[in-house]
Amino acid sequence: MPALVLLGAQWGDEGKGKATDLLGGSVDYVVRYQGGNNAGHTVVVGDQKYALHLLPSGILSPGCTPVIGNGVVVDPAVLLSELSGLADRGVDTSKLLISGNAHLITPYHTTLDKVSERFLGKRKIGTTGRGIGPAYADKINRVGIRVQDLFDESILRQKVEAALDNKNQVLAKLYNRRAIAVDQVVEELLGYADPLSGYVADTTLLLNNAIDQGRVVLFEGGQGTLLDVDHGTYPFVTSSNPTAGGACTGTGVGPTKISRVIGILKAYTTRVGAGPFPTELLDEDGEKLRTIGGERGVTTGRDRRCGWFDAVIARYATRVNGLTDFFLTKLDVLTGWERIPVCVAYEIDGKRVEELPYSQTDFHHAKPIYETLPGWSEDITQAKSFDELPKNAQKYVQALEEMSGAPISAIGVGPGRDETIQINSFL
Ligand code: IMP
Repeated sequence: MPALVLLGAQWGDEGKGKATDLLGGSVDYVVRYQGGNNAGHTVVVGDQKYALHLLPSGILSPGCTPVIGNGVVVDPAVLLSELSGLADRGVDTSKLLISGNAHLITPYHTTLDKVSERFLGKRKIGTTGRGIGPAYADKINRVGIRVQDLFDESILRQKVEAALDNKNQVLAKLYNRRAIAVDQVVEELLGYADPLSGYVADTTLLLNNAIDQGRVVLFEGGQGTLLDVDHGTYPFVTSSNPTAGGACTGTGVGPTKISRVIGILKAYTTRVGAGPFPTELLDEDGEKLRTIGGERGVTTGRDRRCGWFDAVIARYATRVNGLTDFFLTKLDVLTGWERIPVCVAYEIDGKRVEELPYSQTDFHHAKPIYETLPGWSEDITQAKSFDELPKNAQKYVQALEEMSGAPISAIGVGPGRDETIQINSFL
């Protein structure tokens, strides 16, 4: 079972960092395959809390090689500051490998992200403002700058010139901003060449060899299924493919080599930024979930929108990712509710709909149909096995499993590394 994908089954922030970290001790490589520093993983190790944005969470597991794949967009300034922050706390970061084919987020991408959101006004996406969309747009437009370009000054200059040719027109004429000087960008980027040179590698070759040699490779998705640019709630999505297929294109490892796809599923639902969210709670239950669950973005500090569990979304995640397992997180947050509603289907224009509607219009009109399950009041954070959970918590998990279409193989009952109930092994 050498290659596993671990991804968000909802709108991101499902607690993937904890799940990846839990597996970290038994895996040889942890690989990020998409997104950039728009992601935010919180990992708790002992009494230490780490907030990671760009680095794979495997960086915290000694013996594990963290890899940034070709599908990731890398802001080199953020990467270096994250590395030095960890080094200051005594974490060994020397094993990190970065694909030479990964694209760079430059200062003009961040500027464009911010000004274009401002320009959209009420129609804005609510991006993280980290330059993710503009960097991916340049990649697809074939005017992106890649990590490998840092090591060839003349190529770098040509590419920056080509990219800025058009962007400076847009910045000046459309957004009324000052043009960005080619020299300034080239100089800044060249400054990253030395500190990054030791990390750059042919990660595709390396990962395929590792899998062939029976090493355990874990592909770690950022964001979540419903934020996927193809399969999410477009246009309120990120600009990459967090779904399972992204693990292949974002690393150069073929689908036949992937043995397991694990969806991280929060016991309720959250979303950051704009876009439809059928089970959103705008009442005191929503506020309670936000407070107890600590639902504040690791990257942006924004409050997350909160709502009840949505089984329609979970079923959809099973389908579009071919999930083999779920890791249910934050079950402890639901402790104390007398009754817990779960969305089992939607009502759209008077009709009951069991599957996620493919039309954006329908999804915007979807109203949740709830089934209400009995809650529990006992503290579950010390539970070490499924049997140690209160009966109603067991029933809640079983109901979610039946509705979601894949076995729940692990349950998070608290934020700590060891506050997890493992039902089936992932390896
Ligand atoms: P972008 O990825 O910064 O372009 O933002 C696009 C959308 O994805 C916005 O709604 C963001 O709030 C959302 N988003 C991006 N990264 C994350 C994440 O790690 N967790 C949750 N939402 C995210």
